Amino acid sequence: MMVDRKDLINMALDMRSRSYVPYSHFAVGAALLCRDGKVFSGCNIENSSFGATNCAERTAFFSAVADGEKKFSAISIVGGPEGKAPSALCPPCGICRQIMLEFCSDDFEVILAKNCDDYQVFHLSELIPVSFGPGDLGK
Ligand code: THU
Repeated sequence: MMVDRKDLINMALDMRSRSYVPYSHFAVGAALLCRDGKVFSGCNIENSSFGATNCAERTAFFSAVADGEKKFSAISIVGGPEGKAPSALCPPCGICRQIMLEFCSDDFEVILAKNCDDYQVFHLSELIPVSFGPGDLGK
């Protein structure tokens, strides 16, 4: 099965229902497409110690890496107040951009969506232009 952008957005939307968000009530879903065609989804998982919260994007990346995947082509992200359809785009936080940088090349697509007909596509290099990544260690 070939997964396209709309499929990836629908998977992220489905994932929002699994979010654990008793503190912010802001539910985020993400769907990460591997280069081999597999998809790993993730939701945000909050914690009473707020700093221990995991974003949806990182949940998806960590599930994929734990399953042996390290090559990725795109991620879709949808987020907004729990129980409502997203009415704005949900850009990834700085920590999640850094996680993407660890595993993805500049042409990795970040698809920010409200729904499968309303989305914008960014490349990782636009979202984190002057970055410190794996290639910078030891220089
Ligand atoms: N959050 C994500 O899961 N991804 C983002 O891109 C932005 C923020 C989560 C973290 C927290 O559970 C809630 O949204 C509010 O910050």
